[in-house]
Amino acid sequence: MTDIDRADLMRALESAIAAAPTVESAMQQAVRLLKDAVPYYTWVGIYVLEGNELVLGPFIGKPSPHTRIPLNQGICGAAVTEKATIVVDDVNADPRYLACSIETKSEIVVPIMRGSQPLGEIDIDSDRPAAFDDRDRALLEPVAAMLADRFDED
Ligand code: SME
Repeated sequence: MTDIDRADLMRALESAIAAAPTVESAMQQAVRLLKDAVPYYTWVGIYVLEGNELVLGPFIGKPSPHTRIPLNQGICGAAVTEKATIVVDDVNADPRYLACSIETKSEIVVPIMRGSQPLGEIDIDSDRPAAFDDRDRALLEPVAAMLADRFDED
């Protein structure tokens, strides 16, 4: 994907998230746009923080057994606990990893934050090893911020 394509994708995400009638629809559209645009995004989903658990919201990819993840588990739990994006190049070498699919090789988890308060996270798996780098972070962290603005309304 070229930088121009990424800029177009970012604009599409910005308008879709802003125009969506509800936060649920904003999340669904973000997941759809990201999944369709980036070939190595094998599984794209959003978890929403409810109490001390991450609850799976909209996703595209194989159904995950991890529909509720306690904050002390998984790479998903770690990203919210650390309030920071986590990139894992080799999921099988990371003891925190909760497996969704045996094909998954790498993962990025980007927290959705309101100031210092986590609201949820964007979780993306790839069947490619070490698929994610700073360009994915540069794409996904602004998307998380756009989604956080929509959570604020509810
Ligand atoms: N791999 C995640 C669990 C969610 S699935 O990837 C959809 C984790 O380790 O937290």
